[in-house]
Amino acid sequence: MDFLKIIKSQRKESAKESWSGTFIDYLKLVETEPTVTKLAARRLVDAVESYGVEALDDSDPRCRKLFDSDKLRTYKYFKDDFYGHERVIAKIMRFLKSASLKGEESRQVLLLMGPVGSGKSALADAVKKALEKAAEPIYHLDGCPVREEPLHLLPRSLRGQFEEILGVHVEGDLCPVCRYRLMNEFNGEYEKFPIVQSSFSQRARRGIAVVPPMDANSQDVSALVGSEDISKLDKYSEDDPRVLNLNGAFNVGNRGVVEFVEIFKNEIEFLHTILTATQEKQVPTPGKNSMLYFDGVIISHCNESEWNRFKSEHTNEAILDRVVKIEVPYVLELTQEMKIYDKMLRRSDFKAHIAPHTIKVAAMFSVMSRLRQSQKCDLLTKMKIYDGQEVVEKGRTKKVDIKDLREEARHEGMDGISTRFITKAIDSALTDSDKSFITPMRVVESLIKQVKEQIVDEDKKKVYLEILQKTIREEYLKILEGEIAKAFVTAYEEQAQSLFDNYMDNAEAYTTKQKMKDRITSEDRAPDERFLQSIEEQIGITGSARDGFRADVTAFMFAKMRRNQKVDYKSYEPLKEAIEGYLIASVKDMARIVTKSKSRDNEQQKKYSDMVETMVDEYGYTPDSAEEIITFASNNLWRDS
Ligand SMILES: Nc1ncnc2c1ncn2[C@@H]1O[C@H](COP(=O)(O)OP(=O)(O)O)[C@@H](O)[C@H]1O
Ligand SMILES: [Mg+2]
Repeated sequence: MDFLKIIKSQRKESAKESWSGTFIDYLKLVETEPTVTKLAARRLVDAVESYGVEALDDSDPRCRKLFDSDKLRTYKYFKDDFYGHERVIAKIMRFLKSASLKGEESRQVLLLMGPVGSGKSALADAVKKALEKAAEPIYHLDGCPVREEPLHLLPRSLRGQFEEILGVHVEGDLCPVCRYRLMNEFNGEYEKFPIVQSSFSQRARRGIAVVPPMDANSQDVSALVGSEDISKLDKYSEDDPRVLNLNGAFNVGNRGVVEFVEIFKNEIEFLHTILTATQEKQVPTPGKNSMLYFDGVIISHCNESEWNRFKSEHTNEAILDRVVKIEVPYVLELTQEMKIYDKMLRRSDFKAHIAPHTIKVAAMFSVMSRLRQSQKCDLLTKMKIYDGQEVVEKGRTKKVDIKDLREEARHEGMDGISTRFITKAIDSALTDSDKSFITPMRVVESLIKQVKEQIVDEDKKKVYLEILQKTIREEYLKILEGEIAKAFVTAYEEQAQSLFDNYMDNAEAYTTKQKMKDRITSEDRAPDERFLQSIEEQIGITGSARDGFRADVTAFMFAKMRRNQKVDYKSYEPLKEAIEGYLIASVKDMARIVTKSKSRDNEQQKKYSDMVETMVDEYGYTPDSAEEIITFASNNLWRDS
């Protein structure tokens, strides 16, 4: 390997990319491309939007079911990293957009408020990274500690004229350091001032500054506005810009982003610079120097109790007035919550096999822990409705309106189990496992252990344990029962479809009071009442409810066909459940006998290995994990039969 060659060619590449010139060159550049002078908020919005923006519409079932057909704008930039945060992201973008249009938001601090692990830091990171990844370079005065806009060189008397020629607006004045250099190095001939191109980098402190929370003793505004170099004070006077060390957060983050991590952990005095930075777009300079122009987006985050404490102090009113709060709740949509853990596992080094439904049971726990009990349905049903699932009850899709549920529990999503709690439990299940796989049972065990150890509030502990040990366990067993039985049914889909066709023929004939043609003999015959009932009883439809159900199904299917939509056994949720129930029931006894028996005869052994094969090939188990799941099922399912 020729390392030197790689290094040299990279150096040549990066040298080629960067532009430099005099102020005159820069003016020519602005003349052809005025957008290079854009302010920070605009730059940020453009960077994010360059990946693409889409408006949700009703073709997306989530839009219809969960967002009340709100044509929410979604941003591709966030798509691979954030799930179920569409509303939050839309709000953040609305803030930035308004700031970029110099609305009131351009003079406000963006505050993300939410419970631990809801993604506040991750969102702030993503916003900052958009600048780092931005294709558009930034131009600034060479050597300027705050990397300021070159047009600041234009004297006030000429600005109007240049603004007209260039079609741009010039905001802000030269910083003391550049002013000094202009007078002393360039004799005031600003057209000669060198301009360079650069980019954003948090690590290199270029245009992105992060202020971690500091304790009262180490809080020093120099972290925000820079300091004076004491060693130079005996050489220069105090108001000489050459003593300035402009390396505070507002200096570094000029033209980009300043982030205050857990902002209200700081003393209020420390935050006063925020006031001038937002109100006047200026920050103080250390010592006796003049104020410094600041153009940047200020992002911060905090949790709810910090916010409440801060809000209750009336001395904080001035800052409160400068804050736009956006709530970042936990995700309450099961499918989206699962994607969070999938992402985390994908990005981790764990290579163990994860048996089907493992992530699901973990996500069910976190979502249910965040939901308030409802008067209208149980917690599990509520979770499913929040996930956009159809919930079937007594042969009908349950008509609980998601809007009513949300109305009933206004403040949902601000507490409960955090993403980190779940990932820790998954991690420890993975590490503790002496095997090369994890299963839902092990994750549930690990969650139970963690709840017992870490949840102090006794009431909460009780509720959480009940969710894990009862609700989730039962739901998982139900899933498993269906899955194992399904694995016994040969050609499951075809069988289900043919049952469906058969049911529809009979139900239609019944509803329209007609005879039906026998498919084989072509003879007229009456609808097969016994067959219809055997399907319907799977979902508890008996007696007088039958007529209504058959009429409903027939009407539903006709309506679908009229709209040229595909009709299959999955089309109508209640019927689908009934058909699956029927199929599962038909193999239940065999499933029980074959999984439970210690010694299987040849035929049973064949059935058993066929089932394992289906679980491996079609459901994604490994032979080992399938074995463990089957053992679990045979010990816990079909107990009393
Ligand atoms: N809706 C979400 N989509 C994707 N990842 C999420 C989501 N919510 C939380 N996370 C992930 O959870 C972890 C914790 O989030 P973090 O931003 O540190 O939380 P916070 O700062 O709110 O305490 C991060 O890895 C983050 O990416
Ligand atoms: Mg955080």
